[in-house]
Amino acid sequence: MGLASEAFIQSVQVAFKTSVYFTKHVFDPANPVLAGVVRSGIALPAKLLVVLEAGLIEHHPDLCERVIAYARCHDLQLVEAPLLLEGGEVIKQSFASVERVLAAINRCDIDRHSYVLAVGGGALLDAVGFAAAIAHRGVRLIRAPTTVLSQNDSGVGVKNAINYFGKKNWLGSFAPPHAVLNDSDFLESLPEREWRAGMAEAVKIALIRDAEFFELLEKDALQLVARSMPAMRRLIQRCALGHMAHIREGGDPFEMGSARPLDHGHWSAHKLEALSGWDIRHGEAVAIGLALDAIYARRMGFLAVADCGRILALLTTLGFELWAPQLEARDNAGRLQLIVGLEEFRQHLGGALTITLIEAIGHGFEVHEIDAEVIAASLAELKGGQLQAAA
Ligand SMILES: NC(=O)c1ccc[n+]([C@@H]2O[C@H](COP(=O)([O-])OP(=O)(O)OC[C@H]3O[C@@H](n4cnc5c(N)ncnc54)[C@H](O)[C@@H]3O)[C@@H](O)[C@H]2O)c1
Ligand SMILES: [Zn+2]
Repeated sequence: MGLASEAFIQSVQVAFKTSVYFTKHVFDPANPVLAGVVRSGIALPAKLLVVLEAGLIEHHPDLCERVIAYARCHDLQLVEAPLLLEGGEVIKQSFASVERVLAAINRCDIDRHSYVLAVGGGALLDAVGFAAAIAHRGVRLIRAPTTVLSQNDSGVGVKNAINYFGKKNWLGSFAPPHAVLNDSDFLESLPEREWRAGMAEAVKIALIRDAEFFELLEKDALQLVARSMPAMRRLIQRCALGHMAHIREGGDPFEMGSARPLDHGHWSAHKLEALSGWDIRHGEAVAIGLALDAIYARRMGFLAVADCGRILALLTTLGFELWAPQLEARDNAGRLQLIVGLEEFRQHLGGALTITLIEAIGHGFEVHEIDAEVIAASLAELKGGQLQAAA
């Protein structure tokens, strides 16, 4: 006699909406964007908890006062003075800062009809976003990203996380923000490295889906190096819209499949960041990852020699170093650490190994295996190229 079972399967579609603004002087009382966002769709008065990256105060000493004055002027219910947290990767290295945000959310009775506004770089946004995502199973988050990378990539994305068990982004969730306010003023104070690092994500998005954008980057490259703000605004907006289009049209916003085209150039980048003890910035590692994948694709016969040359030339003109000694690191068994990283990358995604490579500028495609010997040869070429450039 068989066991009787009944199955009731339902499929529910959930839509989400995120508004992304490109603006200036976001806390100037004359700028209506933030007030409009806080008012949208919620019966007033909506509560607002602001979390600021402490390091920003050094460059904008009156930032807290400006936030408070803005809230007063627009009748926003600021629940307490902005909470200051240390930014940079250190914020993601433990649960402590998440707990501080959770405590503030609890202390200030922030509920699902309130807002948490996070102002800072990608690391702070990831940590605060995670706290907002788990408090009351999710309160509304507004992001105000303050670095190139967070304005053109992570800030408009749907993910947040902290590092856990010594592993990057191990603890986190998918939670689209309510709104993103990209204020170009914040970029003025970025150190050279941060200004440059975020541009790697723009090259990436151009390579996988937007050949015209790649040409624009080639045209703008010297202006970008000279810190032209109009050129940077063009880069950020097009890159952010590219990421948004992928989330909207890619068919897998919460990454349940194994393919992750937005992670082109990232399989080696993630490992390289870790091997450097987070000394190498994410964007710097991505630039190297893009160069390595371009050389690999050319050596495998997927990518034309000329296209590979253009990719390496653009990255070099933008000022990226395309070599780091950690790329040659080997484990006790003599294996290239980078190749070990390939398995870690697969594990983070789950399922079959899926790597997006480039078959032409603007056109990504997927492969399911990587030839370790060709990677080793590509690394040697990358190293040789860098030595030549230095000579
Ligand atoms: N959630 C996602 O989808 C996603 C995507 C990509 C990257 N990330 C994460 O984002 C993080 C990297 O973000 P990031 O590149 O913005 O780096 P970051 O947040 O570490 O900031 C870099 C440095 O710039 C400083 N800083 C921030 N804003 C500044 C400003 N306006 N002026 C001067 N200094 C400023 C920070 O204090 C820090 O020292 C990584 O943890 C990465 O994992 C997340
Ligand atoms: Zn990235």
